[in-house]
Formats: sequence, C-alpha cells, structure tokens
Amino acid sequence: MTAPVTMRQIAERAHVSLGTVSHVVNGSARVRPKLRERVLETIRSLGFQPSALAQGLRTNRTRMLGMIIPDITNPFFPSVVRGAEDVAFRHSYRIILCNTDNDPAKESLYFTELRSYRAAGLLIIPAAGSNLESTLAPGGPGIPPVVCLDRCPVGWIGDSVVVANERGAFEATKHLIQLGHRNLAVITGPSALANSIERLKGFKKALREASLGIAAEFVQEAAFDTRSGFLAAKRLLRMLPRPTAIFACNDLMALGVLHAVHELNLRCPEDVSLVGFDNLEFCEYTSPALTSVYQPGYQLGATAAGLLVERIKGLEDAPKRILLETELKVRHSVLPQALTTEFSSKKPHTPRKGTRRASASD
Ligand code: RIB
Repeated sequence: MTAPVTMRQIAERAHVSLGTVSHVVNGSARVRPKLRERVLETIRSLGFQPSALAQGLRTNRTRMLGMIIPDITNPFFPSVVRGAEDVAFRHSYRIILCNTDNDPAKESLYFTELRSYRAAGLLIIPAAGSNLESTLAPGGPGIPPVVCLDRCPVGWIGDSVVVANERGAFEATKHLIQLGHRNLAVITGPSALANSIERLKGFKKALREASLGIAAEFVQEAAFDTRSGFLAAKRLLRMLPRPTAIFACNDLMALGVLHAVHELNLRCPEDVSLVGFDNLEFCEYTSPALTSVYQPGYQLGATAAGLLVERIKGLEDAPKRILLETELKVRHSVLPQALTTEFSSKKPHTPRKGTRRASASD
C-alpha cells in the first residue's frame, strides 16, 4: 500500500501554505474562493483522504459514538441500534457497537477502551449487575456524554430514554384479568435489571387493583432468553392446578413458553393464555399468533442518539429522562378464563402446604 497523500504535499503542489490547506480541509477559517478552488482541485487530482485519526489527535475527540448493548443476536436490539445509527449518520457520527453478553466486566472493559478511543459520546444499555453507575458519574472528569437507554444502572442520575415498562406490564396483566383469569403467573427477566423490576411491578399492581393474590411460585425469574423461558414455563405448567395465564416479560421467553406448552401436550390458549413483551416480528407468525406489549425499539435508539448528539454539541439542560409509550397488541394467544380447559376442570390455584402466600404487593 503506497503512503497516503499528506496535506504538506497538497500545499506544495497548490503553492499555498499548510495552514490554508488545513483551513480548506477542516473548514476552520474562510479561504479566498480562488485559493480554495485550487486546493480542492489539487486534493482531487492527488486523491487526498483527510485523516480522521490526525483530526482526532488535534481535537482530542473523534466522530465516533460507542454503543454498548447486551447482545445484537437478541432480535429486540437490532432495531434499537438501527435507530441510533440512522440519527448518528445524519449528524456525521459513526457508531462502534460493543456486545457485553450482560457481563459487567466486559462492559467495563468496553467503557474504558471507548474512552481511550476518545469516543465523542456513549449510548449504553447496561448489563445485568452493571457497576457503571459509579464510573459513569455523568459529567465526571474525562467522561464523555452518556445516555442510558432501555434500562438504567441502579442509581443512574444522567440522561436516559426508556419505555413505560410498568404501565405496559400493567395493561397486559389487566387484559388477562378482564378476561376472567384469576390464576396468573409471571416469568421475569433478570431481577437485577430495571426493566425486569418495572414489569414485575406493573404485573403485581394489576393483581393488587383486582384484589388478587399470587402464590410465590407463580413468580418465576428467568434470563430474557428462550431457554430460560422454556424451563420456567415447564415448572409453572407442572403445578396443579397450573396457572391459566402467563405474562412473559419479553417475547423470547414467551417463545420458550410456547415450546413448553407443546412439549407438555398442552395447548395455547385453550389450556393456558400467554402474553409477551417487545412485540417482535415473529409474534405474527407463532402458532397461535402471540399477544404482546409493543415497545418502540427503533424510536428508543433514535431518541437516545439524538439526545446524545445534543449533549455533545453542548446542551447544558438538567439530565433528561425520556419515557416512550408501549401498546398492547392483542392476537390469538389469549382466551377468556371460562373457556380455558384447566379452569373448568379444577378449582383455582391454592399454594401447596408450607408455601408462603405472597401478596401482590410483595
Ligand atoms: O429481549 C430483551 C429485553 O431486554 C427487551 O424486553 C428489552 O427491554 C431488553 O432490555
């Protein structure tokens, strides 16, 4: 590979100073039109490519945004990243994507490296058990602007863009209660994650407002993936009597529930109704089509990137917490309880002897 053309070579060929070339390349000062045209023509003829690395060294900042997420292979995240990348591109920023696999140590490594690369700003969907809230002290020395999205570390006081998790879960659970379900179970994501906590709160609030209790074993913690949703559902569906409705706090776990239903020779919704969260594209194509809580992934990413660019440009308002709305998308995975086989043949669930009856407010 031949050595790249330098600004000094441009200056010599165009018979102008190095400073003039720099002003034309960086737009850092006005240059007389005839001189500017001569420099641009020389740049074109020599095939000069300005060095972003050199520019970064001069300004101690790059046009790169770091985006730290759990796992791009989870079908919820691609639309979030795409929304962020479209906004970044419109503002001439480029995104470096980092997958933490929900590992706080990997998250910290990426955070340190992105700072060393002088990323202009960071978009972070924190890992479960993230310990960034201490190092992420917004505005701290050497910390670039940071916007947390989708969920925030415990104690986060900086900018954030999240969805109305509690309200979305409340509406989903209320929908099941309005259909007559009384034995409802919930499969949550990791209990360390803010959005898991908020969705469980919404589920319990709906039960409380309907004066319904919940057996402790009807609250199953899983890991926001299909396998853990499948295993949690097998535990729930082996209870007698089993729950007549399950709220899975994301669609991947709901997919696992459907697999468990089929493996246990049960039917959804005839034996158990099911609601998910995210409203991923596959919800239309599962059998039955999955009722789910829509959350605007693309808008989440786009809004967070827009706020980050404003911060990079110097926006000095107080930290913002932007809340995006969810919407329940009703499809075919829910039936009124009266039509659910299990209810018609058994009495409503009573906890096994010695099982603490958790109230919905726990
Ligand atoms: O499927 C991944 C889940 O975790 C989604 O519900 C999203 O909120 C993310 O935090």
